[in-house]
Amino acid sequence: MIGRRQLVAGAALGGGMIVAGVTLPGLFDESRTAVSGGTGDRKPLNIPPLLPGVQAGGARQFSLRLQKGVSEFIERRTTPTIGINSAYLGPTLEMHAGERVRMSVVNALDEPATLHWHGFNLPAAADGGPHQPIAPGETWSPSFEIRERGAMFWYHSHMHRRAGPQVYHGLAGAIYVRDRESERLALPGEYGVDDVPLILQDRSFGSAGELIYSPSMMNRMMGVTGDTLLVNGGIGRTFDAGSDRLRLRLLNGSNARFYRLSFSDGRSFHLIGTDGGLLAAALRTDHVILAPAERAQIIVDLQDGLAVKLLAADARRTMMRGGMMARGADRGERFVALDIRPGEARRRWGPLPRRLVDLAPPDASKAVRKRRFVLDMPMGMMRGGGFTINGRSMDMQRIDEAVTVGTDEIWEIENASMMAHPFHVHNVQFRVLDRDGRPASAAELGLKDVVVVRPRERVRILVRFEEYTDRDLPYMYHCHILEHEDAGMMGQFVVRA
Ligand code: C2O
Ligand code: CU
Ligand code: CU
Repeated sequence: MIGRRQLVAGAALGGGMIVAGVTLPGLFDESRTAVSGGTGDRKPLNIPPLLPGVQAGGARQFSLRLQKGVSEFIERRTTPTIGINSAYLGPTLEMHAGERVRMSVVNALDEPATLHWHGFNLPAAADGGPHQPIAPGETWSPSFEIRERGAMFWYHSHMHRRAGPQVYHGLAGAIYVRDRESERLALPGEYGVDDVPLILQDRSFGSAGELIYSPSMMNRMMGVTGDTLLVNGGIGRTFDAGSDRLRLRLLNGSNARFYRLSFSDGRSFHLIGTDGGLLAAALRTDHVILAPAERAQIIVDLQDGLAVKLLAADARRTMMRGGMMARGADRGERFVALDIRPGEARRRWGPLPRRLVDLAPPDASKAVRKRRFVLDMPMGMMRGGGFTINGRSMDMQRIDEAVTVGTDEIWEIENASMMAHPFHVHNVQFRVLDRDGRPASAAELGLKDVVVVRPRERVRILVRFEEYTDRDLPYMYHCHILEHEDAGMMGQFVVRA
């Protein structure tokens, strides 16, 4: 007779990563069971190779190639994909605060593409947005200085109207920026061992194994979601932890899905960092919510030696405020993102440092200007119109805002639509001030480059574009649901002297 647990395990192995939490109440008790044999065919988590680049001509040089490939996500099924130096996704670029990097990006695809360095303060010409397309066969070689703090950033396609499909098929990767202040902390920091990037992406597969990216009206409205969760390009993977404390760097690399991340036994953990850096102090919690493009660094304690699963539940419902769409959008999906198994001999860590880095609370008193951005999904969209910010859809020929370099501004983002939008601003790590007048929560007090704006909500952020001016070349601000970005929920700003 096949026991319930075996059935469940079998389902997980077969690629059925979706777990209807309501119908399988016993499922997660499994995490309390000691790990024993019989798990030989569980595949280990993919760790993207760490690429330190090479020193040349006073810069750290990275050679990247956008290429086509074939991946095997599902056994004996081949999936055409695209990636960077690889069939799907790209290496983790490792760089250091204060140094200069130079990228050499060769486009070996048969369509134009871009690579955008998400989260960085850099010259507009190096940004890799829609104004820096790389034609097939061409090479793009931007160079910039790393002004960021230690954190995980990422890079991805930002091709005009094609970011959705290009990222979906694999054009993305992680970036580790290291700085002295965060490196000297007593935190797990061995890449792939106790400091692990997890790129979460939901995907759908056709019967031949092909990725399904459908431009249906529903998908254009809600964004493209999939029924299978990939973590670092793998399905249903296991991680053998060699340390009693694990640092996970979570990146929601999905096109549109929001995740609520927690552990199968409900254990609490520490949030230590947000998009662009570490928090001033670790924050104890039992879940984090990540919208597309958001990152979080967490520390999980494995001292009890018990196996535990990282769960990723669909969180769009928590991002809605009632209404038809709320019900339509939440299918109650819950994925097992990662099976974590503490190894026998684990490196021991002392107590978590109480203070992490210097980060003063945001201070809006020097703001010289206020701007307002209203996000909307007008129904004209159905007839081929676009999504809008301040009533206008993205137009590459139109500069929407001109900001003065080195000045503080308050940006007020208002969501006039019925679904949540993760609002992203290029060229800056900003601070969240308040939501509908209520001060930002502790978890949002870190450095951010994406902020969720719920329906009918008004969020104020403090922005300051520290360096670099260009009168002509703009940066973007946009919704990071890639289908919304592609449909025009994006605007352009220049930073002038
Ligand atoms: Cu992550 Cu404008 O992009
Ligand atoms: Cu960006
Ligand atoms: Cu949106």
